[in-house]
Amino acid sequence: MEQTPSIQWFPGHMAKTRRMIGECLPLVDIVIELRDARIPQSSANPELSGWISGKKQLIVLNKCDTADPAITARWLNYYHKNGIPAIAVDSKTGKGLNQFLPLVHEELAELIERRASRGMAGRPLRMMIVGIPNVGKSSFINKMAGEKRAKVEDRPGVTRGKQWVTISRDLELLDMPGVLWPKFDDPAVGERLAFTGAVKDQVLDIELLAMRLLTLIREEYPALLSRYKITPDAAEGLEPYELLELVGRKRGMLISGGEVNTERAAIMVLDEYRAGKLGKLSLETPPKEEV
Ligand code: G4P
Repeated sequence: MEQTPSIQWFPGHMAKTRRMIGECLPLVDIVIELRDARIPQSSANPELSGWISGKKQLIVLNKCDTADPAITARWLNYYHKNGIPAIAVDSKTGKGLNQFLPLVHEELAELIERRASRGMAGRPLRMMIVGIPNVGKSSFINKMAGEKRAKVEDRPGVTRGKQWVTISRDLELLDMPGVLWPKFDDPAVGERLAFTGAVKDQVLDIELLAMRLLTLIREEYPALLSRYKITPDAAEGLEPYELLELVGRKRGMLISGGEVNTERAAIMVLDEYRAGKLGKLSLETPPKEEV
């Protein structure tokens, strides 16, 4: 079957992000990088660690409600073994967010102590959120900040326009997430970003994308096809297009002449996957070689 065509990333966007992060970095003590729990590797920007070197970093695997919990646990273990603090959260319900503040404090313990010893104990810790489009940055900020968000404050030393939200007594969050652009020379990475909705559908053939996703589900998580009342046996041996047709037929998506409206079926499959309705389906496992 045809591979999803390669998608380009945009150097102009990247330069803008880099500038924005460069401007904000001196103002914060820690950078919180949101990644999609289903694709922790593809939703990361490989340039980021170079840009923020010297700053503390914490990884938040967001949308963990849509990922396979066993695989998310493997990712967390992988990060911990590599000395990177990481947690998994669901920013829609707030699940897992209670681990966030204790971990930030733990990571910044040395700085807190240093400040206390210099008589600067009251100075708030500051953090910024970065992540690719649609990964849940606004949802995360809203959940953390709640009603405290709307307040705009101008402070000396802070560039005009930058707003800080108070998260707890000693913690502030820059209310302007850094939008990272994923880098995908590898078509497989572009495809996973498209599955999760991180890149726009116009860039790709939606039916092709849905066929690839259904094929993958058949291979890795065949039981999930039961959502469409399709047994693993019934799915076996079908061409990807036939599998998409079967899904559409089961959902009654017919056009005149009894043909299946495969475009509608494709949109439905992708929407359902993106919303986590298809089940907990991870698309990437951690690398084998752990440092
Ligand atoms: P962004 O700022 O990084 O671009 O992302 P944003 O918060 O706007 O979230 C993008 C979409 O992802 C939203 O869905 C949001 O509800 C959803 N989302 C964010 N965090 C989570 C999570 O932890 N789990 C799940 N399942 N979804 C999450 P939307 O369809 O654009 O809007 P709506 O569903 O909120 O109406």
